[in-house]
Amino acid sequence: YDKKILELKSKIKSYPDFPKPGILFWDIFSAISDGPTCKLLQSLLVQTIKAKFPDVEAVIGLESRGFLFSFSVAAELSIGCLPVRKKGKLPGEVVSYKYELEYGTDILEIQKGTIRKGLKCLIIDDLIATGGSITAATKLLQSCGADVIGCLAVIELTSLRGRQNIPEGIPVHSLIQYE
Ligand code: PRP
Ligand code: MG
Repeated sequence: YDKKILELKSKIKSYPDFPKPGILFWDIFSAISDGPTCKLLQSLLVQTIKAKFPDVEAVIGLESRGFLFSFSVAAELSIGCLPVRKKGKLPGEVVSYKYELEYGTDILEIQKGTIRKGLKCLIIDDLIATGGSITAATKLLQSCGADVIGCLAVIELTSLRGRQNIPEGIPVHSLIQYE
């Protein structure tokens, strides 16, 4: 397992000063541009879910990079894949959750009726920075009656301490950590 994680880590490229000066951007797409690494990442995610979140009933992908992984693992586990999207992207009736950003606010939405009460949901995203996205998605899902059993990310930027912002009692797991 550890060897596979290191192999995956070696494929992820970083770009300094993107999208803004001072930001080091970890590019998840660089890890999935070749077939073997795609399969490796998928199998590490599936293996982690089977070990840590065996009761999961649906995976929730966060727009947009989270969608890559939510569909991939949902298909492999034969469970549902539900999207959480930014405002105005989902058709039909939606439930919204407004949250604070560094500057201003943002709104996440999910389709009404996709979450039945007590549905065991696992949130998936490519990366945890401040933890704001996962926190907002957790609150949105809980407002619909979901049982959020945890969240899973490929990368966690540990120096930003995003984990500490995610509501207590929600297990957080990441495959790869960077300072
Ligand atoms: C990035 C990343 C995570 C989120 C992490 O998404 O893909 O979803 O930020 O940051 P946080 O922990 O501080 O919330 P972004 O909003 O840039 O959009 P994208 O996935 O559509 O590229
Ligand atoms: Mg994102």
